[in-house]
This record gives sequence, structure tokens and C-alpha cells, in this order.
Amino acid sequence: MLLGVNIDHIATLRQARYAGNPTAPIVEPSVLEAAKVCQKAGADSLTIHVREDGRHMQRVDAFELKEKVDLPLNLEMANTGEMLKFALELNPDFVCLVPESRDEVTTEGGLDVVGQETFLEATIAELQKNGIKVSLFIDPEPDQIEAAGRLGAEMVELHTGGFAQFLGKQRNDELERLKLGAVQAYDALDLQVNAGHGLHYDNLQEFLEVPHLTELNIGHAIIARAVFVGLEQAVREMRALIDRMAG
Ligand code: PXP
Repeated sequence: MLLGVNIDHIATLRQARYAGNPTAPIVEPSVLEAAKVCQKAGADSLTIHVREDGRHMQRVDAFELKEKVDLPLNLEMANTGEMLKFALELNPDFVCLVPESRDEVTTEGGLDVVGQETFLEATIAELQKNGIKVSLFIDPEPDQIEAAGRLGAEMVELHTGGFAQFLGKQRNDELERLKLGAVQAYDALDLQVNAGHGLHYDNLQEFLEVPHLTELNIGHAIIARAVFVGLEQAVREMRALIDRMAG
């Protein structure tokens, strides 16, 4: 199973101090350095979300990672004309289309593929025409998964936030929905199944009851752990956990 490390929070930390002075003599922490550490520690890909409000990753970060790090780059972005233009310039390996609103702390909920089908169709076609594989970040809802298949996306990323944020019955119900969603996406629609949001060292074992997973995209838990043990160790621990649980 593949591990994609979301390194947005490295940029969040940098922007907290240097957003207003990006050319200061010292600007840290370096997103590029973090990416290289993730690679050394066993990450299979890098995930970055270039938001329209530019709150963490900057476009220049994306170009630097693409040019200088030899790992597949997964660009999370909103489905807007402006971001599509940027994605075509950047030419990442994958684009994961996500909903985006300015007020949210992090991505909340999956994309409404059903409601935005026409609008998404053109973006997906344009990305694919340019050799970029497309993933749709969706809740594990049958009609959303069905629509992702209809639109010809290569992958879905199942939103695991619902599972991660609850305990007890709600959590079990959400896990069941994720299992069914993965089966539907993989068996019936031949989609690659990825997952992410709120995945953690402490909930991974339970989550990995979900079948057919190819890649997990994990950010916050790894960066939070890195504060105490360092980024390399934090990624290594997640890598080892995945390898142990999923083989
Ligand atoms: N996948 C998507 C689509 C996301 O938006 C995020 C958060 O940026 C993640 C995965 C990673 O989530 P977390 O930081 O909770 O691990």
C-alpha cells in the first residue's frame, strides 16, 4: 500500500512567520527539504493542496517540488478555471479535485460530483488530455462513487474524516460505508481507491479493514508527530505501520 505524505503544514508553519516577507534572509521551514526527508523515509508520493487563498502551499513551492523531487506529485485543487490553468502549467502526476471554501480550516466533506457533473467533466477531460491522472475526493456515498465512475476519473479518494472524527456507533457506521464504497468503486467501476483525511497512527489498524486500498494520503498526524520525533522518524513510523498492517 502506498503512502502519500501531505506536507501542507510545513508551508503553514513557514507562512505563519514569513507570509509577509518571503524574501527574508532566513525563510523556514523549507518545503523542499521536508519533501526530501519524506522521500528518504519511505513516502511514495507527495500531496500538496494549492488553495486559492494561498494560505499554505504557494505556486512556487509546487513548481520547485515538481522540478527538484523525484517523487510523484499529487496536486489537490478546487475545480476552477484558474486552478486548471495552473495545474496544466505545473503538470503534476495526479490531480485530486476537492471542494474548497475560504472559511474552512481544512477540507470539509467530499466533492459533490453528482451536482457538478457537467462542470467536472470538462476539467477531468482537459487534465487527462494532458496526461494528468484524476482523482475525486468524495464521501463514501454510492451515487457520488457512481458519478465518479461515469466521469471517467482514474481514482477516487474516499473521505475518511467522518470515520476519524467519531467514536462508537457513528464510527462503525462510517467504516461500513467506507468498506462498501471501496467495493463499489473497485469491483463495479474499476476505479483506483485511495483514502485520506484524519488518518492517524492510532486509527489506521481499524481503518485498514477497508478493502482494495491503493494509497493513503496522510498529513496532519505525521507533521504533528514530527514536532516531537522529527519528520524522518514520523514518516518512517507511518510507513512501518502501513507495511505491518497491510503488507
Ligand atoms: N486528502 C485530502 C483530499 C485532504 O484535503 C487532506 C487534508 O488536506 C488530506 C488527505 C490529509 O488529511 P490529514 O491532514 O487529516 O491527514
